[in-house]
Amino acid sequence: MAFDTDDRVASATMQIIENVIDAHSTTKMYAHTQTAQLISLDSIDTQPLPRILSGISEWDRVVGGGLVPGSLIVITGDPGIGKSTLLLQVAHEIAKTKRVFYFSTEESLQQLKGRAIRLSTLKNAPSDNLLFSDSAELTSIITTAKNEKPDLLVIDSIQNCYINNANTLPGSVGQLREAAFQLMRLSKEYNITIIITGHITKEGIIAGPKTLEHMVDAVFYLQGEDRWQTRMLRAVKNRFGAINELGFFCMEQNGLQEVPNINAHLISEISHAPGSAIVSIMEGSRPILLELQALTNASKLTMPQRVVSGLDHKQVVLIAAILEKYVKIKLSMQDIFFKVSGGFKIKGSESDLGTAFALLSSYFQEPLPEKSIALGEISLTGQIKPINNIGHLIKEAEKFGITTLLVAKNQTIEKTSCTIKRFHNVYELLSLFGQ
Ligand code: TYD
Ligand code: MG
Repeated sequence: MAFDTDDRVASATMQIIENVIDAHSTTKMYAHTQTAQLISLDSIDTQPLPRILSGISEWDRVVGGGLVPGSLIVITGDPGIGKSTLLLQVAHEIAKTKRVFYFSTEESLQQLKGRAIRLSTLKNAPSDNLLFSDSAELTSIITTAKNEKPDLLVIDSIQNCYINNANTLPGSVGQLREAAFQLMRLSKEYNITIIITGHITKEGIIAGPKTLEHMVDAVFYLQGEDRWQTRMLRAVKNRFGAINELGFFCMEQNGLQEVPNINAHLISEISHAPGSAIVSIMEGSRPILLELQALTNASKLTMPQRVVSGLDHKQVVLIAAILEKYVKIKLSMQDIFFKVSGGFKIKGSESDLGTAFALLSSYFQEPLPEKSIALGEISLTGQIKPINNIGHLIKEAEKFGITTLLVAKNQTIEKTSCTIKRFHNVYELLSLFGQ
């Protein structure tokens, strides 16, 4: 007990000493600090620096109309998704007009050269403007950049960098934070655009608990479905552009090729079969045409299965319950398998009507009218509700040969060459199935 008390006294004494030292050093610190320069709004230069364009339009659009000089951005995604490939292509294009340094901290220069040889766009690319290094020591990278002042600095990847003589462990969250902080200062003070890559964990966050996301100007995810070879570049944070903007690429033998016309690609895969319904959703500034696929089958289980991907599981269960209640079909006795084509994920409820149609079409084993698209929400009372901003969706759908619109009774449609079929409630949906 006495020992405890002694300990407490000792620690309290230490605390007081620390406080005295703290107060002392704080006073000294203030004494030696220069005052900050303050200026009025009028004197702030608002001339935006021209953006750095790569000419790869899917990239340039997603980053907000080209890279902003002096910004720090992160590209993240699963291993093997194509981050290094994309950055090598972007670096090469930008190097046609700007100076670019590429630090490959994960792969050797030989591996990097091997990749470059595969990339068709990099043929005839002996550019003195694009230089490589496999140094992974951050202080050395930063010193090189300060001395040479490139326009763009790529570090692939940040998790493989280490800082000599740092108080933090290599690969630790502390070191990652320190690295990001130092790079942020470098980008701002020297007006160097910096792109770093970061791994993603299984939970889908950048390794190092979102540390990087908070500290940088922009974060882009490269995602894709392997079977399909399509890669989506998605802005999830962008201080200089719209978020949720999407860029599309296709991974081919000779690198990532742009897919400017993603809807042509998507629609070519759509089958006119029972269980399939086409919907359209806005992804950033773009309407995307997607196929919903449903399969309903009489269940042999006491608890029928519901296997859903690409859409909130509860949303499909809800629509099935609404159909059961108002259309009187026994979906609760059926196994339901449901997916969205192309590995896309739908968030809102604009695809409710499409979901209902896909379920009914599979249940009755009758396809929907050919080249039709369903655009509407469904309320709990079984009413079909109009959706906002339908104009963009219709215009894009028409471009790809859609000829029939399936919409809510009171949906306003300004202009269309399509046949319009209107539905007041879910019961009326049966009229498409010879019921
Ligand atoms: P990579 O860019 O190394 O991915 P990340 O940096 O995100 O880990 O991409 C590796 C994959 O891409 C690998 O599976 C091989 C494939 N690939 C192609 O299909 N075509 C190509 O031209 C290149 C360079 C890679
Ligand atoms: Mg890589």
